[in-house]
Amino acid sequence: VQQLEVKQDLKGKRVVVTAGGTHEEIDPVRYIANRSSGKMGYALASAAAQRGAEVTLISGPSALPQPMGVKFIGIETTAELATAVKRAYPTTDVVIMAAAVADYRVKKVASQKIKKENASWHLELVKNEDILFGLGQTKRNQLLVGFAAETENLLANAQAKLTKKNLDLLVANDVARKDIGFASDSNEVTLLTKNQEPKHLKRASKQVIAGAILDEIVRLM
Ligand code: CTP
Ligand code: CA
Repeated sequence: VQQLEVKQDLKGKRVVVTAGGTHEEIDPVRYIANRSSGKMGYALASAAAQRGAEVTLISGPSALPQPMGVKFIGIETTAELATAVKRAYPTTDVVIMAAAVADYRVKKVASQKIKKENASWHLELVKNEDILFGLGQTKRNQLLVGFAAETENLLANAQAKLTKKNLDLLVANDVARKDIGFASDSNEVTLLTKNQEPKHLKRASKQVIAGAILDEIVRLM
């Protein structure tokens, strides 16, 4: 009899996936956001759960339904994401940072709605902590997976992130292309690891790409 069951090659592994974009507050009615839809991260969380992993999905605001069989933690700001990821980290086997993390936050969040009194408005931003870099610095046995969103020099920039953040796997994403990435249902990426040639995954649905990323993670474990 043919088995239609999904292979259980992540059975018992504790996997944290971050997804979506973080929001940074400006005032009670406004925020800074980015174009992340959350689709790639949700596809990874869902596929990892199907393959037997104990999955925690930490997600920024997203219109997507929560995947089945996954522990869900909703966050808004980068600071909230950092707190949630760092709390889970010591008891996690694999961290997949698919979230599009805001690099800056507003220096002084206004407690009241800012009125349109002036002809121009300068908003001062300060740099957020690099969550993944911090995880790389305190890594023990965890497998660390990052994403690189680039609009130019894809492989060189991605390679630099793999090394600088002490990652085991980096998924390089060309976000300048309109046919893939962000809101799209398909993606085309290159997988970078420390000791092997880059592996190009040709354009496919985010489900298929998620499966291939998990195959690589299992191979590295
Ligand atoms: N990341 C993070 N914390 C940040 C910024 C990014 O953990 N404050 C993670 C992302 O989730 C992603 C990886 O780092 O997995 C790379 O993100 P990316 O935006 O491509 O790179 P940056 O290091 O932020 O550099 P830049 O945006 O300048 O290219
Ligand atoms: Ca960034």
